[in-house]
Amino acid sequence: MASLHFDLETTAAGSKARAGVITTDHGKIHTPIFMPVGTVGSVKAVTQQQLKQDVNAQIILGNTYHLYLRPGTEVLEAAGGLHKFNRWDRPILTDSGGYQVFSLAANRKIKEEGVMFQSHIDGSRHLFSPESVMDIQRSIGADIIMAFDECPPYPSDYNYAKKSMELTHRWLDRCFDRLADTPDKYGYTQNLFPIVQGSTYKDLRTASCEYIASKNAAGNAIGGLSVGEPEEMMYDFTALCCDILPKEKPRYLMGVGTPWNILEGIDLGIDMFDCVMPTRNGRNGMLFTTQGVINIRNKKWASDFSPIDPGLPCEPSQYYSKAYLRHLFVADELLGLTLASIQNLSFYLWLVAEARQHIIAGDFKSWKAGFVEVVKQRL
Ligand code: GUN
Repeated sequence: MASLHFDLETTAAGSKARAGVITTDHGKIHTPIFMPVGTVGSVKAVTQQQLKQDVNAQIILGNTYHLYLRPGTEVLEAAGGLHKFNRWDRPILTDSGGYQVFSLAANRKIKEEGVMFQSHIDGSRHLFSPESVMDIQRSIGADIIMAFDECPPYPSDYNYAKKSMELTHRWLDRCFDRLADTPDKYGYTQNLFPIVQGSTYKDLRTASCEYIASKNAAGNAIGGLSVGEPEEMMYDFTALCCDILPKEKPRYLMGVGTPWNILEGIDLGIDMFDCVMPTRNGRNGMLFTTQGVINIRNKKWASDFSPIDPGLPCEPSQYYSKAYLRHLFVADELLGLTLASIQNLSFYLWLVAEARQHIIAGDFKSWKAGFVEVVKQRL
């Protein structure tokens, strides 16, 4: 079928923010968009029906590293790919495992060939190479698949960052070659997004963006940010990358971030975001709401019978009270994890939809300036 394409609808006044539509073989994605993280083929504590009906998710993420270890490519292929296996019929994006191998696996050894690592589950030894990671992503069958990269830690010294970036670029060429040699498995097109690296060095980031842009891929990602550097630095490098990466292709800022990070990213020209924060922090009782940030375990909510978030068009967040959700957390009830995850994800999806509307209406900049202060508030 057809390769992904991106229609840029509007560019905001006085900002680099854009509204667009990405078309994939599993449907359309309205940008800017937030993509809930479904590491092992499941967005933790939330069903696929809830993701559609309550959260309004248009695309979800999966992870090559986790899905390769469990359930493994044999099961995924027998199912007919991840869409059939987990019954999510909208677009899916898979990360390449590059990042997870560095953050989760033990005893990693990086070589030109790829990365040798031990599974965090049972200690078994594996090699991830650009070729094997493309093959695994073929078996998973996501609509958007990510290049195999190395994400250097922050801070990294210049020489390490340069060598790592050059390795990521050579790996990228091998990813494209492998993909060209292996057909789509499930009758729809998979689109490879390359990833910019270069740590916190302007000349390296510039070189990486130019290299990635020269590949003329369906979309481009910025990696290696939100790894512990100051927020201002993350924004500066995002701006630098957005100035070089092609305007007519979607730009994906990987692993970012808080609601205010996302609003800044949109302002700088980012179209796609993902982060574990709404689900992970939600499971710890941290709620992102249209009024600000709530710690739902706090005693002050014990008798607050107002809706979890009256400003959100999400049924569970209107139907259940803060007091009830607090009770679920204090009593260690599993429903608490579900309701908090739905609240946070629907807030993130609502936030990007609002941003989109304000970009189209022409008042994104002034709306953002006011709303950043609201979402940052601790209630
Ligand atoms: N997720 C967050 N940052 C990164 C990155 O730099 N590379 C990859 N592959 N995934 C990420």
